[in-house]
Amino acid sequence: MKIAIMGAMPEEVAPILEKLGEYTTTEYAGNKYYEATYKGVELVIAYSKIGKVFSTLTATTMIEHFGAQKLLFSGVAGAISPSLKVGDLIVATKLSQHDLDITAFGHPFGYVPEGAVFVEADTQMIAMSKKVADEMGKSVQEGIIATGDQFVANEERKNWIGKEFGADALEMEGASVAVVCDALDVPFFILRAISDAADMDASFSFDEFLETSAVESAEFVMKMVDKVIAA
Ligand code: ADE
Repeated sequence: MKIAIMGAMPEEVAPILEKLGEYTTTEYAGNKYYEATYKGVELVIAYSKIGKVFSTLTATTMIEHFGAQKLLFSGVAGAISPSLKVGDLIVATKLSQHDLDITAFGHPFGYVPEGAVFVEADTQMIAMSKKVADEMGKSVQEGIIATGDQFVANEERKNWIGKEFGADALEMEGASVAVVCDALDVPFFILRAISDAADMDASFSFDEFLETSAVESAEFVMKMVDKVIAA
């Protein structure tokens, strides 16, 4: 089995590489891909760079070029749900692109013909995450994640995304990774730790908490990898 672990930013994959210690590095299509054997299983790890286009490229490369059969994403997000505070973890049940808009043609936000407003994450890995949370003594919230090519630092925009998509958190890569994995039939799991509240203080909060929240997410994702391997 080959498992992909993906982030968007260097800070999101650094704690994972640190835990692995030894790995090889391959440059491909403008990115670095790190490969390691972990508990008898092959891993491919990469950060895509920010946004839907780069994350699409990286997820596709991990699957089509490196042969990943499952994909786990680790990173940070802005909170929409008031119950999510900085450092809290959210597991995506389903994801949508909040900036996809052909409503001029009568379609709902997040929809293009032959696509779907939401893409659902792998239910088996979501179930596993509950056990992992119990074992780690952590509370993890499940919810809808909305993705767009936009750092949201605006209460009004955040509230609109929350209302329109029923979203609990927002970020810039999850839904594009979801579309790729769904199309290529690769089970995927998207975990995010909250770095900010997507409000007027978001950029300051993001800068302050990116590293610590990324570590929270990475630690949980590595426990998820352990569970996937043991299953
Ligand atoms: N990732 C973390 N915080 C975010 C925000 N406020 N907007 C978009 N992506 C984010």
